[in-house]
Amino acid sequence: MAHDLFLAARAAMAKAYAPYSKFPVGAALRTEDGRVFAGANIEVASYPEGWCAETTALGHYVMAGGGQITEIAVTAERMARITPCGGCRQRLAEFAGPEAKLYLCDETGVVETVTLGEMLPYGFKGEILK
Ligand code: THU
Repeated sequence: MAHDLFLAARAAMAKAYAPYSKFPVGAALRTEDGRVFAGANIEVASYPEGWCAETTALGHYVMAGGGQITEIAVTAERMARITPCGGCRQRLAEFAGPEAKLYLCDETGVVETVTLGEMLPYGFKGEILK
């Protein structure tokens, strides 16, 4: 269900470490077997060294053994409908197919549902590098 993934993203957002931007973000991913991995953005005084909520969630997912990602939810306290940054679209596409559902949320729930393929058309694929 989309709303429970949103709730996981919002719970993660409460743990954001964003003292510089004061822009907490939460993300949650679900795999086809129902496991949920969530994360928040983590900032660093040397600003470019910080990273996004989606990236934290992907770290948990990879460390737990990965799997097929079917759904992703992203939420931000201060934005009506957050969309993942370009770098996170590419990171998500490393592990989730273009058909994966992406729930764009505000503070109360899902505002819009798109696919990862719609969010990253013509994305770079690493197949040739393998
Ligand atoms: N941020 C995310 O966590 N995810 C996104 O998709 C967009 C931006 C974070 C990074 C930084 O900590 C703060 O939002 C402001 O850019």
